[in-house]
Amino acid sequence: MKNIISMKNVTKYFKDNRALKNLTFSIEEGEIFGFLGPSGAGKTTTIKLLTSQLIPNSGEIRVFGKDVYLNKKEIVKNIGILSDTSGMYDRLSVLDNLMLFANINDVPKENVLEILDRIGMKDTIKREVRKLSKGMKQRLMLARAVLHKPKLLFLDEPTSSLDPGTTLEIHKLLRTLNEDGTTIFLTTHNMFEAEKLCHKVAFLNEGEIVDIGNPQALKLKYINDDIKVILKDDKREIIVKNNQEGALKIRNWMEKGQLIAIHSMEPSLERIFLTLTGREL
Ligand SMILES: Nc1ncnc2c1ncn2[C@@H]1O[C@H](COP(=O)(O)OP(=O)(O)O)[C@@H](O)[C@H]1O
Ligand SMILES: [Mg+2]
Repeated sequence: MKNIISMKNVTKYFKDNRALKNLTFSIEEGEIFGFLGPSGAGKTTTIKLLTSQLIPNSGEIRVFGKDVYLNKKEIVKNIGILSDTSGMYDRLSVLDNLMLFANINDVPKENVLEILDRIGMKDTIKREVRKLSKGMKQRLMLARAVLHKPKLLFLDEPTSSLDPGTTLEIHKLLRTLNEDGTTIFLTTHNMFEAEKLCHKVAFLNEGEIVDIGNPQALKLKYINDDIKVILKDDKREIIVKNNQEGALKIRNWMEKGQLIAIHSMEPSLERIFLTLTGREL
């Protein structure tokens, strides 16, 4: 597998605030990688370093196998970025906004029509951006980020203020982009998003990666001692500990004929993060 992103011992200070501490990780071609962490963990800073909008105090950053600062121009051509700053012209139409961006960046016009079709906005190309719903605007921003068909796409909390329906639409778009070969780096504090979408996730806390891996593998790694019991009365679910006390309870329910099922429990990513850091996402 080809290495698309690698960071080695990257440290970033803002004055005397150490925002990132010896960050080391890598992403392979074709992965959807989720960077999970609470507000202030250092997610946006990491994206800015990877896209050469910021310079680290120390460490090595490679994108497409090349040093980002020595190959800035070439790398920037092959990446797309979706962040929360809009940069759209509110009083121009959907089409005009994309055309403008295409012209500035030497993108063929065919790409504009193709992407409008893909995001399901072919029928709204004449609408002014200020009249779009939040969800449509986000789809348009995503369209702009991938207009030049980047091999690598960065998304900074792409669904943080969207309704569930729009979130699903964005996920679908990201999946098709990924199936067509785009490597995706996204930040989120939504564990469901990470779990559903990502091949690999990293937990970031106070500028440090506390664990990294495939979501399912992480769940198995942190499988805990909780046991879920389902009782007959109104199909109640109860969580008990896998210890002496729990065993007594279970035997008691069994003797009364109340027990329907027993399951061992996989922790959620949220739960794992809490275990590792003592903090919620
Ligand atoms: N431009 C900046 N100047 C000073 N401090 C910053 C700047 N950008 C980020 N920080 C600080 O760096 C830390 C990480 O911030 P950030 O990367 O934005 O976190 P996240 O995106 O995970 O919420 C925070 O403590 C934040 O206050
Ligand atoms: Mg951020």
